[in-house]
Amino acid sequence: MSNSKNIKRFLKVVFEKNKVIASIAFIIMLITSVLDLFIPQITRLILDDAINNSKTNLLIKLVLLYTAIRISSSLLSVILEYIYSKMKKRVYIKLKIKLLKHLSKLSGDYYTNIKTGNILSIIENDMFIVENFGAEILFSLIINAITAFIALFFLLKMEFDLLLIVIILQLLITLSQSKFTKIISSKTEEIRKSDGNLSNIIQEFVSNIMNIVISKSSFNFFKRYIKQEKSLVSKCIKLDMIISSNISIARILNSLITICIYGYGGLKIIKGKMSIGELIAFQQYTEMLIGPCISIIRSNTRIQQSLVSINRIFSVLDEPIIINQNNKGHRLSDTFNGDIVFDKVAFSYDKDKTLDNINMIFEKGKMTALVGTSGCGKSTIVNLLFRLWDINKGKIMIDNIDIKDYNLKSLRKNISIVTQDLLLFDDSILNNLTLGNKNIRKQYVENICNRVEIYKFISELPNGFDTIIGEKGVKLSGGQKQRVAIARALISNSSIIIFDEATSALDNISQKRILENINDLLKNKTIIVIAHRLSTIKNADKIYVIDKEK
Ligand SMILES: Nc1ncnc2c1ncn2[C@@H]1O[C@H](COP(=O)(O)OP(=O)(O)OP(=O)(O)O)[C@@H](O)[C@H]1O
Ligand SMILES: [Mg+2]
Repeated sequence: MSNSKNIKRFLKVVFEKNKVIASIAFIIMLITSVLDLFIPQITRLILDDAINNSKTNLLIKLVLLYTAIRISSSLLSVILEYIYSKMKKRVYIKLKIKLLKHLSKLSGDYYTNIKTGNILSIIENDMFIVENFGAEILFSLIINAITAFIALFFLLKMEFDLLLIVIILQLLITLSQSKFTKIISSKTEEIRKSDGNLSNIIQEFVSNIMNIVISKSSFNFFKRYIKQEKSLVSKCIKLDMIISSNISIARILNSLITICIYGYGGLKIIKGKMSIGELIAFQQYTEMLIGPCISIIRSNTRIQQSLVSINRIFSVLDEPIIINQNNKGHRLSDTFNGDIVFDKVAFSYDKDKTLDNINMIFEKGKMTALVGTSGCGKSTIVNLLFRLWDINKGKIMIDNIDIKDYNLKSLRKNISIVTQDLLLFDDSILNNLTLGNKNIRKQYVENICNRVEIYKFISELPNGFDTIIGEKGVKLSGGQKQRVAIARALISNSSIIIFDEATSALDNISQKRILENINDLLKNKTIIVIAHRLSTIKNADKIYVIDKEK
């Protein structure tokens, strides 16, 4: 049930913006197969008429015609290949973007429980498999069916008893192939799953490699990795064996058909009941019947394999967006007035209540501090304001409007969260600071970097602001990272800035200086500061102490 539904959804993606070129491809395919259907007739005429009756002129004409058909159908195939590869790439990019966009709309809950390796395996491997599934396979199914029917029509007019033998053998092929198809699809699914598990392990290793080395747990990792890899390899080998025995059996039965035609047909020729031309034409039409039948069966195998991937892709796309994006909702203007109000807010991640009956007001132009023991829910409050999770009870309001009634994009655009852990992209330091926003003036960026005391460090880098940092680039110390994070938040000029342990890696003196330097930039904003150190919250206008009752 869901299989056919997902195929329909996938085909919708395939054909949505490709209707015109898809129609052209279909017409070209139809023309080439019709042209090919003339080949046996021409062969028969060459053998029985032209050669037998020594008609040289007719022979030349037929040979030219034969050549013309072969050349034009080959040329058309090249055009067809071009169209298909263009369509495939378009679908591939469209679906991949759709996947990534959907992922970015999911909730904190999903992000917390996400298995990165599985998702990566879907985005990379399943998308790769699906790339080759689409218009091509569907059209060839249709064309093959048509060709087979026309070939059958000609065959019926020729030799009925010979056809009967062919059909019986053909049925045997179909039967054996359909058995194999089932096994292949279930094995493929197993392999996809193992592949996802393996990606998880490698992903875990690569992204934590330093900690793994420090904690001396790499041996344990290799044991886990080798076990998974071995089981995957043995599954893959099994699948390859099944596929190749499938092909061999089909080939044997196929050659049996050919030899039957020559043997039985040869007897008929000896008895004078058939001409050589007819035999050759019969044999060629049989190929036109069997070839398409085999490719239909093969396509079926490929469809089964792709279906596994299609289902996996749609399982991500079907992940419900529980945080309503509210695209038509209010937009938070850049200069909003008013306060953020938490009104009797209750929230729990799972069963246990994390926050209960929280009442707070964060005023514009003021700095409000949140303090409390570790795990009391300070970062959770930030997550709720950012709507990574939605609250269970109560209300969070900005400008007296429930945050759920705002357009989510606009809400998030106006909130900058500076955390301890800065996410750096493998890009220039300038782009890391502006997040690629070309409208931000360099002078402005430099000014802010100066205030957070990172300007000198950046200007001394080999390429200054254009130095590539991130994964492979320059390494930053914890304190430097935090300065970049603060600069990034200030550059984005959000109306609400939240510092969640954002200065923990700075020494007291630098922290004091930086806070003084940026003070005027924070004037008209709503500032929330979360910190354990007293010196950080000393200047706050208001302090909330979160109490963990339980
Ligand atoms: N994504 C999550 N899923 C489930 N539970 C979570 C999640 N994030 C936090 N929690 C739990 O919620 C509680 C509050 O966590 P939170 O991160 O808000 O604490 P915190 O006050 O910021 O602590 P810290 O000062 O150590 O940063 C903790 O008990 C934590 O285990
Ligand atoms: Mg925290």
